[in-house]
Amino acid sequence: MTLSKTDSDSPISKVAVDLGPRSYDILIGEGLLASAADHISPVLRTKRVAVLTDENVAGIHLEPLAQSLENAGIDFVPIILPAGESSKSFSTYKSVMDQLLTVKIQRDEALIALGGGVIGDLTGFAAATLRRGVDFIQIPTSLLAQVDSSVGGKTGINVAQGKNLVGAFHQPRLVLADMCVLQTLPKRQLLAGYAEIVKYGLLGDFEFFNWLESNGEKVISGDTTASAYAVQQSALAKAKIVAEDEREAGKRALLNLGHTFGHALEAESGYGPDLLHGEAVAMGMIMAAELSALLGYIDGQQTTRIRAHFDAVGLPTQVPQLATIEWVSDRLLDHMRQDKKVMAGKLTLILLNSIGSAFTTQDVEEAQILKILNQELSTASGSSN
Ligand code: GLY
Repeated sequence: MTLSKTDSDSPISKVAVDLGPRSYDILIGEGLLASAADHISPVLRTKRVAVLTDENVAGIHLEPLAQSLENAGIDFVPIILPAGESSKSFSTYKSVMDQLLTVKIQRDEALIALGGGVIGDLTGFAAATLRRGVDFIQIPTSLLAQVDSSVGGKTGINVAQGKNLVGAFHQPRLVLADMCVLQTLPKRQLLAGYAEIVKYGLLGDFEFFNWLESNGEKVISGDTTASAYAVQQSALAKAKIVAEDEREAGKRALLNLGHTFGHALEAESGYGPDLLHGEAVAMGMIMAAELSALLGYIDGQQTTRIRAHFDAVGLPTQVPQLATIEWVSDRLLDHMRQDKKVMAGKLTLILLNSIGSAFTTQDVEEAQILKILNQELSTASGSSN
């Protein structure tokens, strides 16, 4: 994992993900979409690609990408899918494969994912399986996708039994994180992405958390310089962990800070629009911090500091009251027992030693988890448990 500027008068930063023959760069800067072909051409094996995107993103961002590809003489086939989590399904995957095979995308051609996490994960899985594997390039258009789902190579779709249960590890050949595309995002979506940014500070970089305390508001209000720095630090953190543990045999589990609690909240809320992934992860990080304090790993001042930062930027610090859900701690614990990190019947949790240092443990009694769930649900206004 390395960080470099692409050249002296360019605002583009490059984070290299070091994975031997599967290594790739993450380019971060302004205007990368409009100049996409300049960056993509060196990694293409032929001058033909398919661009997968959704209806919402296509309306805003497909034209500049298409223009850039056309100017560079790169032939492209657009595949425009319905927006939303429901596209991460077997039926959409089948439709995508039909279309890719009908237009005869060959093994030396590539797919481009232009969109958020749903498009990135689906395109990656299509690329992993089309003709036993073709190259793909990520152009993430949400902050969440830029700092999380576009990097790392986990691809997949959801099935009736759970999210991401069918998939493959398939690393992209390049990631283009254009700060300009963030300008069109609603604030709620930016905040949801910001939750994953804070995660990197909490789990491994105290200095970055300090920086976020001073600059987080700028990131959320769309300041491109602050956003570029935050995305770069997040990409560096993720690249380092992925390079050490590509297949999640150990250290990579740290990236799940806040996710075991968060996934339970999401599952209970039905993965609907009432609770975004980033919002659930934010609450999950608060719960993980409170559990760390309960077990004596951190002190109350640190949980207060984390809550204060979340409050300052507008991230949730209380489980939200939702009209359709009555939160029940036992049901949340049951969802947690379904977590992919459960081993020999024991939950694996990511806890904090301090702000900037996380660790994994299987040594937590369910009674202690329930205590935290009950404590946090009691502050969800109007809920009972
Ligand atoms: N694609 C997301 C990850 O690998 O973590």
